[in-house]
Amino acid sequence: MAATGSAVGLGNIWGFPYKMGTNGGFAFLVVYLILVALVGFAILIVELSIGRTTGKGAVGSYMALSRRFKWLGWLAFLSAFFIMTFYSVLGGYCIRYAVANFGDLIGASFGTGELSAGSFFASFIANQTASIIYTLIFMIITAVIVMKGVSEGIESFSKTAMPLLFVMLLIVVIRSVTLPGAEEGLRFMFKPNLEPFKTDFFKVFSTASGQMFFSLSLAMGAMITYGSYLQKTDNIVRNAILVPAADTFIAILAGIAVLPAAFALGGEGAAMAGPKLLFITLQHVFASMGATGPLFGLIFYILVIIAALTSAISLVEVITAFFLDAADARGKKANRKIVAALVSLSIMAVAVFVAADGLGSTGFPTIMGYIWLDFMDLLSEGVMMPLGALLTAIFISMEYGLPNIAKEVRIGNNRFASYSFFAFSVRFIVPVVLLLVLYGQLKGFGLLG
Ligand code: TRP
Repeated sequence: MAATGSAVGLGNIWGFPYKMGTNGGFAFLVVYLILVALVGFAILIVELSIGRTTGKGAVGSYMALSRRFKWLGWLAFLSAFFIMTFYSVLGGYCIRYAVANFGDLIGASFGTGELSAGSFFASFIANQTASIIYTLIFMIITAVIVMKGVSEGIESFSKTAMPLLFVMLLIVVIRSVTLPGAEEGLRFMFKPNLEPFKTDFFKVFSTASGQMFFSLSLAMGAMITYGSYLQKTDNIVRNAILVPAADTFIAILAGIAVLPAAFALGGEGAAMAGPKLLFITLQHVFASMGATGPLFGLIFYILVIIAALTSAISLVEVITAFFLDAADARGKKANRKIVAALVSLSIMAVAVFVAADGLGSTGFPTIMGYIWLDFMDLLSEGVMMPLGALLTAIFISMEYGLPNIAKEVRIGNNRFASYSFFAFSVRFIVPVVLLLVLYGQLKGFGLLG
């Protein structure tokens, strides 16, 4: 359940729908599902069993297990940092939307007012001060929780919030698919059409792959850490099936909540132009709910904020734990509160630029042709996570040995019927897929001509 909580976050609700929207709908979905089954499953088994074997987090695990790949934990640390620089901005947007819906509900001036969903969003992101302040609020909440140490409160909190989010998502889905014109969106998602591959297969492929790693919290050591909490009697294979299944289900539901509505609403709503899709389209959906819209909007965004917080906490925790462990290794004792505060501050130092960029609406210079948020996203989920997963697969098959993973999985008489499939995947499929992804990514960056 905890691993599912980490997996389900903005990646599912914000990322999946727009990435599917800009990458051919059905074609993207097919590649995504294949990647989850062929790559995500295997990496998840590896991470969970490594964690359970060592009983340590990412950095500690690689230090303990490997001579040549000791530093792999570093990559985890860096990806977590880059993810947080835009995750916090998006978290801030969600807070703004919760506030706006609350404003609409009580008729206060901080609501969306008379503005259409599209122009409300445009004017908010173009307001650099407001964007930075909301980012800061999200970052402060995250920092305070990590400084206190991830408490039981959060855990029980998210145990009720997650099922609630699911129910709210269902309500939005029902509204979305009953909007006139929604069928076109459903067709876009589910009607077999592999045409998009012809235009740019590598883009669809590497976007789906990055999304898969991001959404499953893979290749960053998060699942190694969760593995370290598993009981020896727990069934690792079952966990490696249930977590992706639940995560993918929520992502597809979010897709059905957003894409058909985007088609139905046309105009601004159909602007599948990436990162803003969720915010604009859903606000349209809430507006179409009449007087109850703001209430649904408020509840929905509060739940999304909670989902985002539970993911953000674990990301900041990865970085914080890294410094705490490093101090430990030098025989010193670091102060958790100070480390967590400094980590959050340095994330904020970069996030300020991402927020001020306002998804490219404020005239900031782009980085290699990408808006700031997309660049940070590409760097982490597009390059570092595939690279981390590739190196993990190489480490496991060349140095650590697949039989050691099998031994861990089989503890307590657990069966590992999928072992041959798993071994084949780690040895061949994962490296090949990831090399292709990295190739596609570098090509996308324009580094390969
Ligand atoms: N999976 C989370 C989401 O979909 C985000 C995330 C990526 C994450 N990597 C992580 C969460 C590592 C915790 C740990 O939003």
